[in-house]
Amino acid sequence: MLNLTVLFVLASVCRAFYLPGVSPTDYEADQRVPLLVNSLTPSYSSQSRNVKSIIPYDYYNKNFNFCKPSEGPKHQSESLGSILFGDRIFNSPFELYMLRNESCKQLCSSTYTAQQAVFVNRKIRQEYNLNWLIDGLPAGTETLDGNEIYYSLGFPLGQVTEDRVPILNTHYNIIVEYHTTRAGKHRVVGVSVDPYSERNKPAEDGSITCGSEEAVELTVTDDTQVVFTYSVTWVPSSTVWATRWDKYLHVFNPSIQWFSLANSIISVLFLTGMVATILLRTLRKDIARYNEIDLTEEIQEDSGWKLVHGDVFRSPKNRMLLSVFLGSGAQLFFMGGATLVFALLGFLSPSNRGSLTTVMIVFYTFFGFVGGYVSARFYKTFGGEAFKLNAILTPILVPGIVFSVFVLLNFFLIFAHSSGAVPFGTMLALIAIWFVISIPLSALGSFLGFKREAFSFPVRTNQIPRQIPTQPKSLRLVPSVLFAGILPFCAIFIEVYYIYNSLWFHKVYYMFGFLFVCCLLMIMTTATVTVLLTYFLLCAENYHWQWRAFFAAGACSVYILLQAVVYLVFKLSLGGFISNVLYIGYSVLLSFVVFVLTGSIGFIVAFFFVRKIYGSIKID
Ligand SMILES: *[C@@H]1O[C@H](CO)[C@@H](O)[C@H](O)[C@H]1NC(C)=O
Repeated sequence: MLNLTVLFVLASVCRAFYLPGVSPTDYEADQRVPLLVNSLTPSYSSQSRNVKSIIPYDYYNKNFNFCKPSEGPKHQSESLGSILFGDRIFNSPFELYMLRNESCKQLCSSTYTAQQAVFVNRKIRQEYNLNWLIDGLPAGTETLDGNEIYYSLGFPLGQVTEDRVPILNTHYNIIVEYHTTRAGKHRVVGVSVDPYSERNKPAEDGSITCGSEEAVELTVTDDTQVVFTYSVTWVPSSTVWATRWDKYLHVFNPSIQWFSLANSIISVLFLTGMVATILLRTLRKDIARYNEIDLTEEIQEDSGWKLVHGDVFRSPKNRMLLSVFLGSGAQLFFMGGATLVFALLGFLSPSNRGSLTTVMIVFYTFFGFVGGYVSARFYKTFGGEAFKLNAILTPILVPGIVFSVFVLLNFFLIFAHSSGAVPFGTMLALIAIWFVISIPLSALGSFLGFKREAFSFPVRTNQIPRQIPTQPKSLRLVPSVLFAGILPFCAIFIEVYYIYNSLWFHKVYYMFGFLFVCCLLMIMTTATVTVLLTYFLLCAENYHWQWRAFFAAGACSVYILLQAVVYLVFKLSLGGFISNVLYIGYSVLLSFVVFVLTGSIGFIVAFFFVRKIYGSIKID
């Protein structure tokens, strides 16, 4: 129960804290409020209950033919993280003035060629959303959940009628909620857009009336002339600026979420606790027995894990790779931890677009130091001698793999003319950060790591390796490792599900309190399970525990990949080849990172466990 209480407190704390970071903009009456446009993204359709594509497109992609500002679209400056996450923000020709209601304004008229019509109609069928920003707030669609109004991000590009005909939305009803401060200034606190498909035509004198009953269908045989119109309504609101994001962060049926989370937390804690208690008790008995035998000096056949004391600290195969992974894992661990703490303290408000990714990159870069240190120290402990190679590989191998896959996937995005493709300049910036900051820091870490003493071992390693007896079936590599991965996965899968939702359904992710608790649980279970497996392995007189511990702890990532596939099958129906390749590619990347991270956590815990137990028995 205590844990639950802590959880609730944590969650309420992080809800209360998510906001500082950006200061409000005050507007005078009749002052222009800019409307910015972001990429078009596929949306979650509540009818078919899936997402049909994952490729974002630029608002000013020539095929959409949207109205441009008279002086041409201008790209707005964005943070690194925001660019990496696919934001491409431009200005727009919409003219909004604080407090000035407009009933019908013409934006521009565009002619769609047959070819453009085919493109747009396909995007309407795939349920693409427009994403606008007014004063940093995304325009949403209002939905009623019980008595509460909330916004879902974006609004549809068009609809498909009952006769399966796609129609384009050409009239936008922009509703802006404002709050008047005591000083008489106005602030934007809510934005929603109701789009309509209306064939509005200007009269001969240039005036225009909106509200035509006729829908706009783009014909694929001929050019179609389309007039875009909009109206603006300013509605006073009692919502203050500080809480204006609440409507976006609305969680459906929070009680179910709480319930499932509490449920999984309790079961995971219970299982882990039980396993740990049993293990501790057995160990204590083992140690007492071993030490007793020594005292009575009976000549008795030793059994169990004591037998392998002369081999247990034998250097593992591929010690270079293992220590490089350990270094990268430690680096990821520190990055994740620091980012979570940052998020919990409320520095990553959702209004600060891409701040999460930016912060992660910054932390990853600076913790390169930790990576180098850990890698070097373990390499030395394993008895390795190619220090230079180790110092070079640590900051290059894992980030290099991730970066290469990322670049490869980026080619697919470029090929699809997607706005999600990361620009060349940003790529260069990433490489520069990597080489100029991360690698030198890592080298410094390596240097310090090599200068320190290697970890000492409580027992000496024999010259000649021991024969390993036949292993029981249950301890074979694949079953044992796969079995070990289940428990840590149970601790984290609900959060992973929400993270997928926020990635693919463009929901705002803000449940860092939950995430924090789940990560703690995952670390605990990973540690317990790895220690348990290592113990069984040593009892079976198998001293090749190092890689096994790493794999067992990393096995959680196999399940995360599986979950992604299940998610793909049941929640997404990605039409195109490219969407599927991208989805699988990003999922593999994510699970690789999880593998290195959890594998390292498990290995390091198992390492100190083995050192501890062999340190507490007497060996003649
Ligand atoms: C704009 O129109 C809405 C709805 O008709 C009304 O509630 C609001 O007071 C108007 N705003 C101004 C500033 O006139």
